[in-house]
Amino acid sequence: MPTAGEPPMCASSPDSSMLGQMSVAHSEVHSPEPAEAAFRREHPAYAGTALLDQLRLTDFARLDHGGHVYLDYTGGGLYGESQLREHMRLLQSGVFGNPHSINPTSAASTERVKRARACALEFFNASPEEYVAIFTPNATGALRLVGEAYPFHPGDRFLLTFDNHNSVNGIREFARARGAETTYVPSVAPELRVDETLLPRYLTDIPGNHHNLFAYPAQSNFSGVQHSLEWIEHAHTHGWDVLLDAAAYVPTNRLDLSVWHPDFVAISFYKMFGWPTGVGCLLARRDTLAKLERPWFSGGTVVAAFVQRLYYQSAPGAAHFEDGTVNYLSLPAVETGLRFLDRIGIDTIHTRVTALAAALLDTLGSLRHSDGSPAAAVYGPRSPQQRGATVAFNFLHPDGRVIDERYVDRVANQHKISLRTGCFCNPGAGEIAFTISRETLLGGEFAEAMTLESYINQIGLPSGGAIRASLGLASNFRDVYRFMQFAGEFIDLTSVPHDLPPRSTC
Ligand SMILES: Cc1ncc(COP(=O)(O)O)c(C=O)c1O
Repeated sequence: MPTAGEPPMCASSPDSSMLGQMSVAHSEVHSPEPAEAAFRREHPAYAGTALLDQLRLTDFARLDHGGHVYLDYTGGGLYGESQLREHMRLLQSGVFGNPHSINPTSAASTERVKRARACALEFFNASPEEYVAIFTPNATGALRLVGEAYPFHPGDRFLLTFDNHNSVNGIREFARARGAETTYVPSVAPELRVDETLLPRYLTDIPGNHHNLFAYPAQSNFSGVQHSLEWIEHAHTHGWDVLLDAAAYVPTNRLDLSVWHPDFVAISFYKMFGWPTGVGCLLARRDTLAKLERPWFSGGTVVAAFVQRLYYQSAPGAAHFEDGTVNYLSLPAVETGLRFLDRIGIDTIHTRVTALAAALLDTLGSLRHSDGSPAAAVYGPRSPQQRGATVAFNFLHPDGRVIDERYVDRVANQHKISLRTGCFCNPGAGEIAFTISRETLLGGEFAEAMTLESYINQIGLPSGGAIRASLGLASNFRDVYRFMQFAGEFIDLTSVPHDLPPRSTC
């Protein structure tokens, strides 16, 4: 039985039960081919995604050259090499100046920014009459734009799901500062979905004639749960404005804004196609955008401002929300990236990651210690329906204790597997997954100089967080197979070393 002192055996093969419904004989698991053949039989639609196998050999060859298994697409997408080449060709051949002028090089930048904006609307099938695309540094920047400018007043409501990224949770501070009330809609374990019979109660509980904002993620960055887009219309019916955090959803799912009409949509482009980082977008419905009250003005957001007269006139449309100089050298790469996704087809990506996620879930669901006890706990839905390819879990010791996620990280590094561990900036989903009550959280003092580590110990949490594996456009079956081999390291593990690094963030 492996214990603390023993180094993990990187090349150990997985137990045959790990392959779950793929039912591959134990003698075959050293080679991925039989497992892949079984996987393909079980997921015939996967064959239609062969284009991505080709791209893996070309645009994403660096993954296999470096021996990497990349399983953190919800953290950041990967770029295809051809995207870089196209972007570099453009930069090498053109001369681009600050778009705030009218000189030729400025006009060249303006044209490229305009094209990127049109592409973003087109990609999401958003009518330019209905929506405007505002460029931001990332999804967080988009969420902040809404939070800081939403006209919250006393009596107004900010409603949000427990399952939200901290960049949405943070909007409650703007609401609080302006006297609006914040209410959280809980998720229910083990699926970590919202109780749909309960939601109408929250949506109907609003005072009339107020500004009320409802925010939720189209896909959880913690559990992969896909919350219903139907909620948008329900919320509208009851007078809510809807902020849809689509950052984790759009890299592998179609968001059609001619079908769904959220008032605000936040995304980060690097999560969709890897390059460039530093550019996100707020897609906003023009009529709701007109409600927002920006707390300041800056270069780029005004048509005119004076010093001796304390007056400024806002720039129209997106410009009013784009502070300073937009990222004009990176924005052409947004057009390239969106066209790259279009050529592959977002539905092809969706089909592929859905099948691979099912294999990942099977692996974790059927992982057993020799005594038959479960060797992993999955947080969130076990079936591939209404969920994305993001899976949160922990490995378990045979006695049911959670295996320290820092040790899992260590073993993953030895396998060259990139995973995410912790709470993934989504504390609400974590609190439900680990059944941490409000009383438990209040039972410990999180003082100024305190470390996260000592707080976790003080309130007696079972773990410092979960492990997240997420798939994306460059994922293939070999990645999942190597994950299976890695998962085998935790079978019958009774203890972990004591020299794990301290936890610094959640
Ligand atoms: C659902 C969700 N919302 C918001 C964010 C924040 O994105 P960014 O860090 O790019 O601003 C993330 C990042 O992981 C996310 O997954």
